[in-house]
Amino acid sequence: MTDGRFIVFDGGEGCGKSTQISLLRERLEASGRDVLLVRDPGTTRVGELIRDILLNPDHTEMGFRCEMLLYMSARAQMWHEVIGPALSRGAIVLSDRFVSSTLSYQLGGDGLTEAEIRTAARIALGGGWPDLTLILDMPVERSIARVKRAKDRIEQRSSEYHQRVRQNFLNQARTTPDAYRVIDADRTIEQVHQDIWRHVEPLLEMSEAKA
Ligand code: TMP
Repeated sequence: MTDGRFIVFDGGEGCGKSTQISLLRERLEASGRDVLLVRDPGTTRVGELIRDILLNPDHTEMGFRCEMLLYMSARAQMWHEVIGPALSRGAIVLSDRFVSSTLSYQLGGDGLTEAEIRTAARIALGGGWPDLTLILDMPVERSIARVKRAKDRIEQRSSEYHQRVRQNFLNQARTTPDAYRVIDADRTIEQVHQDIWRHVEPLLEMSEAKA
């Protein structure tokens, strides 16, 4: 087992994950903690190349099974190269998305089942898993409207698709309440941050009491 803590921020497009991760990182660093921020897919050289393949809108022919395995491949490299070592030295790792995204965005595509995605995740991560996954939830129409830059291959999908993705996130949280927290993201940045802190602080106290 690892000594660090692994916290994932996840949710639909434009839900404010990046802003909230930065705020939490600043708060943790201000208290002298060793914090590492990663984004999934990406972070490593190999992972960023895979990210470009995944998000390129020209790749219209890509099937969901290829897509799922590419997300897992990027993640496997990120675990091997960055997250695993950071947790071993006792760092707090904050990840912008993780397997919870694959369980929402790729679930059901070309018949992909939850069991298949979890099997692939076990192969990619060798049993590694987040300590806590925070789902930043808000209505799809409101969150997608916040995406101002050109939309990537996944963001371009239909509103119905993104509604399903939202329900998939909420279902994960409902079926695994110990490991997930749903945060109402449709509030001010400060309110959302305080709510996140309320869920993160006990986890840190637990790991520091153990040390
Ligand atoms: P980002 O815009 O939050 O960086 O995420 C990149 C896109 O990839 C976003 O549209 C969500 C999508 N995605 C999946 O479809 N499955 C996954 O497993 C992950 C991590 C992201």
